[in-house]
Amino acid sequence: MIQSPLNYTGGKYKLLPQILPLFPPHPRLFVDLFCGGCNVGLNVPSDRVIYNDLNRELLGLYETLKELEAQTILRRVYEIIGEYGLSLVSRYGYSYYGCDSSRGLGNYNREGYLRLREDYNRLRREGLYDSCSRIMLYVLIVYSFNNQIRFNARGEFNLPVGKRDFNRRMEEKLMAFLARIRQQDCAFTCQDFRTFDTSALTGRDFVYADPPYLITCATYNEKGGWNEELERELLAFLDRLHAQGVPFALSNVLRSKGRENGILLQWLEDRRGLYRPVPLRYSYANSNYQTKDRTSSSEEVLIVNY
Ligand SMILES: C[S@@+](CC[C@H](N)C(=O)[O-])C[C@H]1O[C@@H](n2cnc3c(N)ncnc32)[C@H](O)[C@@H]1O
Repeated sequence: MIQSPLNYTGGKYKLLPQILPLFPPHPRLFVDLFCGGCNVGLNVPSDRVIYNDLNRELLGLYETLKELEAQTILRRVYEIIGEYGLSLVSRYGYSYYGCDSSRGLGNYNREGYLRLREDYNRLRREGLYDSCSRIMLYVLIVYSFNNQIRFNARGEFNLPVGKRDFNRRMEEKLMAFLARIRQQDCAFTCQDFRTFDTSALTGRDFVYADPPYLITCATYNEKGGWNEELERELLAFLDRLHAQGVPFALSNVLRSKGRENGILLQWLEDRRGLYRPVPLRYSYANSNYQTKDRTSSSEEVLIVNY
């Protein structure tokens, strides 16, 4: 199984053993409509994959990772690490940086990381957004707090420095990702799901929807990123796919921390016999949402129309 090179909030890597067997065996086109870290599309056997997400920076990064030679990307990653004086513990060890594993590398990397963040944000402000700045974004994510991705309302990357650096595991994940997207017939598109063109889809294709969950709070849910209106529009979008004969699967939670998703529950009730919620076994280990956002009482499901 191939894992996203990004530690993506809400990523489904650990749920793949449960959800992949529920998918149709080999669709012609697999649409990963809310692709995020791409964990799902990377592992679905299909003739072709479309990775779609609203996050323009993320999709720009993926396009660059697909376009450039793998060795060029890796060389550029190491050049940026060197240019900004960031740590490389896998090469030099913690003591070289006066740090240890439990306290992490934040103190050592803070100054260089903030310079890199400022340069990246400035390039974006000035519209100088090319493959170099996109790889800068990858390095920022690697050295950011919990390897997360977060932009403020002005579109600036705004996470503080993290505790870790570019280690062997991250390099392996990056290289496996690069190999996979070269081997796959795949495309990256950046669209709001509401404008995604489904007119050519048929019963041989398959759409997977993994939207932000309405009743749990992830970073991209902040500032009205996902709301009841979008939830209803997504459900209507899936109804249209169903009417068109296109199989779909929707990831979501029905209940969590004493809250329930009434819109989703009502939709399922109204379409009883058409759509089927398959319960997934919850475990903290399945999730890379911040654990305070979920409890063992979360009811995570995969809703399918086949
Ligand atoms: C739960 S994450 C997907 C995680 C992904 N399945 C994985 O395993 O890495 C949800 C994604 O939906 C995207 N998103 C939010 N609103 C969207 C919209 N209106 N249209 C398309 N994508 C959207 C977010 O940018 C985020 O990447």
